[in-house]
Amino acid sequence: MSDLKSLETDLMAKIDAAGDGGALEDIRVHALGKKGVVSERMKTLGKMSPEERKEMGPVLNGLKTRIGEAIEAKKSALEEAALDARLATEKVDVTLPVRPEAKGKIHPVSQVTEEIVAIFSAMGFDVAEGPDIEDDFYNFTALNFPEDHPARDMHDTFFFEPKEDGSRRLLRTHTSPVQIRTMMSEKPPIRIIIPGRVYRCDSDQTHTPVFHQVEGLVIDRESHMGHLKGTLEAFAKTYFEVDSVKTRFRPHFFPFTEPSAEMDIGYERVGNEIRIGQGDDWMEILGCGMVHPNVLKNCGLDPDEYQGFAWGMGVDRLAMLKYGIPDLRDFFAADARWLEHYGFDPLDQPNLAVGLSR
Ligand code: DAH
Repeated sequence: MSDLKSLETDLMAKIDAAGDGGALEDIRVHALGKKGVVSERMKTLGKMSPEERKEMGPVLNGLKTRIGEAIEAKKSALEEAALDARLATEKVDVTLPVRPEAKGKIHPVSQVTEEIVAIFSAMGFDVAEGPDIEDDFYNFTALNFPEDHPARDMHDTFFFEPKEDGSRRLLRTHTSPVQIRTMMSEKPPIRIIIPGRVYRCDSDQTHTPVFHQVEGLVIDRESHMGHLKGTLEAFAKTYFEVDSVKTRFRPHFFPFTEPSAEMDIGYERVGNEIRIGQGDDWMEILGCGMVHPNVLKNCGLDPDEYQGFAWGMGVDRLAMLKYGIPDLRDFFAADARWLEHYGFDPLDQPNLAVGLSR
């Protein structure tokens, strides 16, 4: 009995002195491992007479339990101390003032995305996001693109290597798949905008393999083309920071909307400058339409109960128009001089109350 007491005292002292997880684990193996000193004693129970076992069983089990608990307690204490030490070294003084010499500009794409978010937030829209890597179902099928329909080719899709079952993942060609994800996971009324990167295998002065879109989606019991027009006209006026904008809706085709349209805004060229809002020339800025009943059905919504409208616009294009940036490829050139010229002050957040851009 007394050797058990001294064994326990000895083990407890070792546990107490363990400086890290590794040392503690060594002690655990030494005591409770298969050939550990406590385990070896437990094995002797088998050879004892029933009377002896009755007496020694609880004693040895008690020892095993106490040692196990002490090791666990020490383990938690060591982990807590390690976390405290880490937190102490990662402390950031958030009260430090902004450095006056801070460099860096907000990229026009980020600025314009923020402006668009500010405008639609004020109208009561939420922001939704989805993955850049999609599959055929969300990017095409659920959006009512028939199998083998040429509209799929129109998108110049980047595909990944086929999987074993033959299916291919792809880089989303538009932000519309997030419409599907939202309608499948949320109950109407839905009022969202979806900013994000999209990818198409295309490159020239006005096309780059990666670009940015903001998608919009409204699903409700009563929504119609008039709401769509009102929403997008209000957007155009606010975004271009002009008192009024001439707009025109031209019939178009998208598989996921019916009817579909493209929205043009009026502009005029005065010398080298493009004045948005008036004038006799037209510029297309977005695609839109009433959500196709098949798309609603694909998302489990009853087209007799719900309807809605959607649109998709190119952020890069809107940035070029508003800020007079001539070549789209410069957006992705990572040229610090370009950013210094076209970028925005990080401290000026787009805000409807004080003006979107200053
Ligand atoms: N997804 C279309 C594109 O990338 C843009 C678009 C058009 C989105 C009409 C819409 C819409 O939601 O209703 O070309």
